[in-house]
Amino acid sequence: MKFRVEKGKPEKFPCELLLLFSFESPEQLAGPVQNVDLEWKGFVSTLMKQGDFRGELFETRLYYTQGGLPAKRVVLTGLGKKEEFDLEKWRGAASRAGQYIRNAGMKQFAFPIKKFNDLSEEKLAESFVIGLLLGVYEFNQFKTLERDKIKEIEEVVLLGEKDEEIKIIDNGLSTGQIISEAVCMARDLVNGPSNQITPTVLAEKAAEIAKDHGMEVQVLEVSQAEAMGMGAFVAVAKGSQEPGKFIVLEYNKGKGLDTIALVGKGITFDSGGISIKPSENMDRMKDDMSGAAAVLSTMKAASKLRLPLHLVGIMPATENLPSGKAYKPGDILRTLSGQTVEVISTDAEGRLILSDALTYGLRYQPKAIIDLATLTGACVIALGDYVIGLFGNDESLLKRIEEASARTGEKVWKMPLWDEYFDYLKSDAADFRNVGTRAAGAIIGAIFLSKFVEKVPWIHLDIAGPASIEKERPYIPRGGTGAGVRLLIQMLRDWRRF
Ligand code: BES
Ligand code: ZN
Ligand code: ZN
Repeated sequence: MKFRVEKGKPEKFPCELLLLFSFESPEQLAGPVQNVDLEWKGFVSTLMKQGDFRGELFETRLYYTQGGLPAKRVVLTGLGKKEEFDLEKWRGAASRAGQYIRNAGMKQFAFPIKKFNDLSEEKLAESFVIGLLLGVYEFNQFKTLERDKIKEIEEVVLLGEKDEEIKIIDNGLSTGQIISEAVCMARDLVNGPSNQITPTVLAEKAAEIAKDHGMEVQVLEVSQAEAMGMGAFVAVAKGSQEPGKFIVLEYNKGKGLDTIALVGKGITFDSGGISIKPSENMDRMKDDMSGAAAVLSTMKAASKLRLPLHLVGIMPATENLPSGKAYKPGDILRTLSGQTVEVISTDAEGRLILSDALTYGLRYQPKAIIDLATLTGACVIALGDYVIGLFGNDESLLKRIEEASARTGEKVWKMPLWDEYFDYLKSDAADFRNVGTRAAGAIIGAIFLSKFVEKVPWIHLDIAGPASIEKERPYIPRGGTGAGVRLLIQMLRDWRRF
């Protein structure tokens, strides 16, 4: 989809299709839609008075202007009640309008952007582009039949009235495009099956991003990880023929900027290993690298946005499979931290590879270390697929995440990390075990990770629920969602404001 910003008034702008939004009641017509209404002899206000278009949230209709406007057609999308309006609804409305236009087979549209209350043209443009691009996302690269039936919007013209507005809209547009591209890249990686998205492929993607954006990349082979002492990562990687890769990407190295380490679980397929999972729904376990996908995508976006931070992206990537070489329940592993772990279940592999990745991250002396992982089924039971489980050891860092959550609409819910939970991880044979009780499973998983971050401000995001969803939401289609990407980017963009 190509975007262009042009100077023009919607009521004077000749085009195939003009997109307009309206709140619920006709007395509330304001901004561009009001000007169009005046030019169009009260067409929109009449529709609304007669109840043919109510402006209800996401209600969408197409009208032919029959010469009443320079635009040939108008699509009207409702924004609901004015007093309930926020950017989350705005992203949803942009998505619904985009899906409607795409499904109707229309290829281009123009859309006026005008500030509303305290929402600037820049913010509105950014959120519009995000809602639109995320809403029309489809994973169809492996569909070979009837490709000619795939519909796509080709061109969008954003209209600004004054020269200074054009620049502002253009800024919002660029930011929105960069963020959407990152989310869609994460979705593609998550939706990609494990025979396509192997640890090797993730490492190649990281190398490509490093090359294109002037970042440093380092890919440790399993033998190198072993020599370094990453006994936990290596144990998991040993079970598969597909070589594991410990991937490290670094942006803005050696510039004296604040260092933040991002760590993402990169299990490209989780069969459970010797503690094998039931076969029902096992195909879903291709999404067990969603954390790594989010980190990789965030790194790319951060460099395109030129964020003034030193970022280290750490992505331990491997399959978790049973084989004659696989690690086994009862095995005792020596982690990179020196602490030993008794394996109770080989299906609690995420916390093992993350423990070495977190310890490795501490070498960079980060101001904060943040991990994202599809860590526990228990988190899905606790919070469903709508919310990210939020854990952390530092109040101000937790606040930053909650702030970014409010701004992006990526919901998080804070969970406790009380010491008492650590009792469940006591082991007779080693420093601790990798599994506690079924009860409080998400918390115990997080407690395990907390043993590998020392005193460094740390956040753990359990994205097991929202990483991939069954039922679509306004601008999130079914399947891989790119969960955490917008949240992380927002937090990093705001880093210096707090
Ligand atoms: N990848 C899974 C967690 C998961 C489950 C993510 C369902 C998304 C949906 C993880 O590796 C796992 O298997 N965790 C176990 C931990 C248990 C053995 C302590 C779980 O959640 O059952
Ligand atoms: Zn598992
Ligand atoms: Zn897993």
